[in-house]
Amino acid sequence: MSETKPIENNKKIIDNNNNKKIIFANSIIIFACVIFLLTVAIIRFNIMDGRPLDKTIIPYVSLLVIFALCFCVILFALKYLDLPNYNTKMFGVICFIIAVNYAVCILIEKLSIFAMPVTLTVLLLSVFTNAKTAFLGNVFSALMLFITLTAMAVSGGQPIPQMLLPIIIFTITAGTILSIVINTDIRRFTYVIRGSAVNLISLPIIILYQLIIAPQSFMGLLSELPFAAFMVLGTVLLALLLQPIIEVIFNINSNFRFMELCDHHRPLLLRLAKSAPGTFNHSLTVANLAETCARAINENTYFARAAAYYHDVGKLNNTRFFKENQFNDTNPHDGLTPEVSCDIIRKHASQGKQVCAEYRIPQEIADITAEHHGTMPIFYFYNKAKEMTDREINIKEYCYQGPIPSSKVAAIIMICDAAEATVRAMKEPTYEKVEKTVKDIIDQRLRYGQFDNCDITLKELAIIKNTIVHAFGGLYHERIQYPEV
Ligand SMILES: [Fe+2]
Ligand SMILES: [Fe+2]
Repeated sequence: MSETKPIENNKKIIDNNNNKKIIFANSIIIFACVIFLLTVAIIRFNIMDGRPLDKTIIPYVSLLVIFALCFCVILFALKYLDLPNYNTKMFGVICFIIAVNYAVCILIEKLSIFAMPVTLTVLLLSVFTNAKTAFLGNVFSALMLFITLTAMAVSGGQPIPQMLLPIIIFTITAGTILSIVINTDIRRFTYVIRGSAVNLISLPIIILYQLIIAPQSFMGLLSELPFAAFMVLGTVLLALLLQPIIEVIFNINSNFRFMELCDHHRPLLLRLAKSAPGTFNHSLTVANLAETCARAINENTYFARAAAYYHDVGKLNNTRFFKENQFNDTNPHDGLTPEVSCDIIRKHASQGKQVCAEYRIPQEIADITAEHHGTMPIFYFYNKAKEMTDREINIKEYCYQGPIPSSKVAAIIMICDAAEATVRAMKEPTYEKVEKTVKDIIDQRLRYGQFDNCDITLKELAIIKNTIVHAFGGLYHERIQYPEV
């Protein structure tokens, strides 16, 4: 096999770093241009002379400021937040959520500024992406709202709404808290409770601000409080209502759905636990490893866990032919030729996809079921066939039929699956032995081009290796030998 694959992956990392540098440099240039345009606009309208401000320019200047601030946030994100490389569809979902939040807030603001569902962005992004993206999207939404409402008031000859500043402070404070607490437990019940509880923070912030800034109009504020109460629960309910709509429009699955799929009482998981308990327990261990690895490289942990639970459901058609389900000494492969055995084993990948379709498991999980062995050879039966004959054996006849992993999560499942099976078979696993095994598994798959269809980098593969080795340390640590009774 070609040894050039690691070099190609190295190039991928260098390209990624170069791309980030180019984006960073371009962003600085654009930011400088915006500042320059702003300066020209200010000089052009003679604001510095003390002449009255030409209000018609305000919306345009505000728009420029929006762009400038957005670039600041993007620069911050690129430099300090290690965000996932979202594909076009996920980028569309993020933009759609921010746009919906913006439109709903601007419409509801006419009714009352307190009724604006300002935390809608963070509530929805938490369901479809991760905590960092939710945090960033929320800051972005808050800036857009603040500047638009200010521009609308000034251009209409109105004073800037007094409550705008505390509402924006609340949006950023509550959004940051929500992005952290929601991602720790994404069940619907806790989502509603935590979402509403954090939104409740708005009330003391607003009341305190009013008491400090304009205590004389405190009674007027009380009449607006029902709108604030409506916002507390209304935002969470609106997020729950929009979530299935976004799922349908973009054909994606929310983290709620992935979480529900991990319920051990799901029919397919119950069947797996009953008919193939060895495979079921193997899947649980792979799920723990995959979730930890996904977290380490900023991938969706809920998706990784759910995909790991279902990756081997194709074994249900022939449970006894897989080592982990052979509880007595009889091995059904003993009476079969290596070709037939190999065919039975490799079919579990493609049959997994059919089983998933039967049980209406989402397509992206079914794809991973088919991809988790890629096109790797089944060395055990290949070597057995070579031992039985003198003729040349074509290794391609002993390979899985693929396809190779098409996403980073699929690559994670492939590595964790192989690592779990190999380490479990070890007689006396030590740190050094486990580390060498996991490294060999990754290197071998690199040589066989298994990661050519997903944009995983060598750096991420190194992180995955270290994460798995560390996790196995917790699984196979030395235990006290209990005396026999
Ligand atoms: Fe498998
Ligand atoms: Fe497996």
